[in-house]
This record gives sequence, C-alpha cells and structure tokens, in this order.
Amino acid sequence: MVLNLAGNLVPVITFNVNSHAFSILKNTDIDIAKLPKHVAIIMDGNGRWAKKKGLPRIVGHEYGVRSVREITEAAAELGIEYLTLYTFSKENWNRPAMEITGLMSLLVRTIRREIKTLLDKNIRLQTIGDISSLPKDVCHELVEAMESTKNNTRMTLVLALNYSARWDIANAVQQIAKRVKESSLSWEQIDDTLISGSLSTASMPEPEFIIRTSGEFRISNFLLWESAYSEFYFTKAYWPEFDKANFYEAIKSYQERERRFGKTSEQINEK
Ligand code: IPE
Ligand code: IPE
Ligand code: MG
Repeated sequence: MVLNLAGNLVPVITFNVNSHAFSILKNTDIDIAKLPKHVAIIMDGNGRWAKKKGLPRIVGHEYGVRSVREITEAAAELGIEYLTLYTFSKENWNRPAMEITGLMSLLVRTIRREIKTLLDKNIRLQTIGDISSLPKDVCHELVEAMESTKNNTRMTLVLALNYSARWDIANAVQQIAKRVKESSLSWEQIDDTLISGSLSTASMPEPEFIIRTSGEFRISNFLLWESAYSEFYFTKAYWPEFDKANFYEAIKSYQERERRFGKTSEQINEK
C-alpha cells in the first residue's frame, strides 16, 4: 500500500522497465502516476436501458444512481481529483413533465441518502449550472450538501445541473462586458485565461478526459470551452450498465494516448 497524490491508500505494484518506474493499481493495469486530474462524464442511456427491459424511463434513472455511486467510489479510490457528472441539461427541461418531476424527486432523495457516504469518504460536492432556478427543495438540498462537504479534500464531485455550456459562456461574456463598461477592465485584456476564469468551472482544472455512455457521439452542450484539448471516450454501454470495470477500461484507453497539444510526436518524446 502506498499513498497516492491525493493522499489515498492504494495497493500498488511498482516495477522497473528500461529504468522507468511504473506504479500499477493492483488488478487494473492502471498507472496511478498517469491519471487524469479531472474526468467528466455524459451519463446517457438511462431511458433506453429501461425500455430494453420493459420498464418505465424513471426506473432507468434510478438504476443510473447505482452507477453514479460505483463510479464516484472508483474515481475516489484511484485518486482522481475532480469527477464531473452531466446530470441535467438546460435542454432536458423539454422532456415530459412527469419525467422531469421524477428526476427532481430522485435528486433530492439521492442527495439525502448519499450525504453520509460523501462525508465518510471525504468527498466534496460542488455544482455547475443554474441551481437557483431548480425547484426550491432541490436547490436547498444541494446548498446544504455543498456546505457540509466543503472542507472535504479527497475528491470533488461536480454535478452539472441545469447546465449548458453555451449558457455558461454567455454568462461569462456578460460579466466581462459589464467590467469593460464599468472601466475595471479594458477590452485588450480579454484573453483565454480571462474567459476560462469567468466560467463556472474557473476553480477546476480542465477535464483531460470526457466519457460518454450509450453509443452517442456528441457533446450535447457540455463543457464546450473546457474540452478544447480533452480526450474523448465513447462506449456503447448504457449508463446503468457502466461499472468499475468499464471505468478502468476507459482510463486505460486514456493512458495509452499521446496528448500532443499541436506539437509533433518527436517533440513530445524528446527529453
Ligand atoms: C441520461 O439518460 C439521463 C439524463 C439526461 C437526465 P437519458 O434519459 O437521456 O436516456 P436515453 O438517452 O433516453 O436512453
Ligand atoms: C445529455 O444527455 C445530458 C445529460 C446526460 C444530462 P441527453 O440525452 O439529454 O442528450 P441528447 O439530447 O441525446 O443529445
Ligand atoms: Mg439521452
């Protein structure tokens, strides 16, 4: 057992190949020295999973919560610092009223039930998105959970709720425009860093890795600015089926990639 970067005790096997030391998480082939700091997930396919089983869509969402629990635990155990879960988009308000009511009630019940686990496992809860426009009980439950977990340090679980990336970018532009109008900022100072710092994700590292379940190949208005250099992983598994083994598989795929940021492979590999 060793302490990883996030201060968690993890069983690792360390060995040397060509003088490089590798620390592999036991039974997973995952190199804990090469973990993404921030993983974001588009949790999709709850409805189709339920339909396949002849069940109502809401049952799919309920089973989806089991995956949320399992993946949150897996990410924390690995030592991932930020896990962002796309939970409810602005566009999801266009769904049937009954499904929306069911989802909101599931949210309240889940937060109430899971708060103890978050505290026990030292996980901090945060949100991105307009939570003040959610039903009052949902907003209240979220604010309380964020307050009571705010000093937790092992991992930050970020729920994207009533979120859309274009909404976030438009808000950032408004804030910046206001500062220019009030002369506390000049237009020439507007750059990448200022825009990043005006988004709801300002305090987080950009997601190095984005996973989408259910076989869809789209981003659905999620982290558009922040994903400029993210690695993407698409899997056919519906979200309620996505488990620890699938998550480890995804992380291994991330670790096999060469992130070049516009450079050549030779430049990346030269010491
Ligand atoms: C994802 O599953 C959960 C939310 C968007 C709230 P879906 O409900 O989108 O499931 P599908 O895509 O219809 O199967
Ligand atoms: C994306 O899933 C939003 C969430 C996972 C919360 P959707 O199911 O809403 O996405 P589209 O409509 O298929 O693109
Ligand atoms: Mg969907």
